[in-house]
Amino acid sequence: MSESLTVSGETKSEKYQSLLPQIGSLVEGEKDFIANVSNIIAALKYGMNFFWVGIYFVKENELVLGPFQGPIACTRIAFGKGVCGTAWKEKKIIVVEDVEKFPGHIACSSDSKSEIVIPCFKNGEVFAVLDVDSDKLSVFDELDKKYLEMVSEIINGLNESK
Ligand code: SME
Repeated sequence: MSESLTVSGETKSEKYQSLLPQIGSLVEGEKDFIANVSNIIAALKYGMNFFWVGIYFVKENELVLGPFQGPIACTRIAFGKGVCGTAWKEKKIIVVEDVEKFPGHIACSSDSKSEIVIPCFKNGEVFAVLDVDSDKLSVFDELDKKYLEMVSEIINGLNESK
């Protein structure tokens, strides 16, 4: 793995394009799933300068907090609850421009203003959700959907081979 990240580019798209290959090489040569996911989360947090990045795993019909970077967070989320539980239930990416306008949003930090949640799949079922929060409104758009879905696909591949 490489030991440092250098994210270049002016636009969000350029930054993701700079970061994505580095995420690929970060996980090369390491077999441990949690070690790799932990580094991917840190790469996203510090590479893209997000407020909070983490993953919740489906465990016994709940989402349970996994590796994350940022302020402490809620540890368990029920199916269909909050943005994360809704992305799990609906099996789709959810973009929230203003968390205060999302019914049932779970506020782990009052500084979080907008959010995107990307489900991770194994055999068509959600096994985890990747959650990214911003402390600014309306930060996430189609570009984040596209590139964070690519990150989720890397995580899916790591889960397949663990
Ligand atoms: N806001 C999320 C909960 C997780 S925290 O943002 C880290 C939700 O509504 O599901």
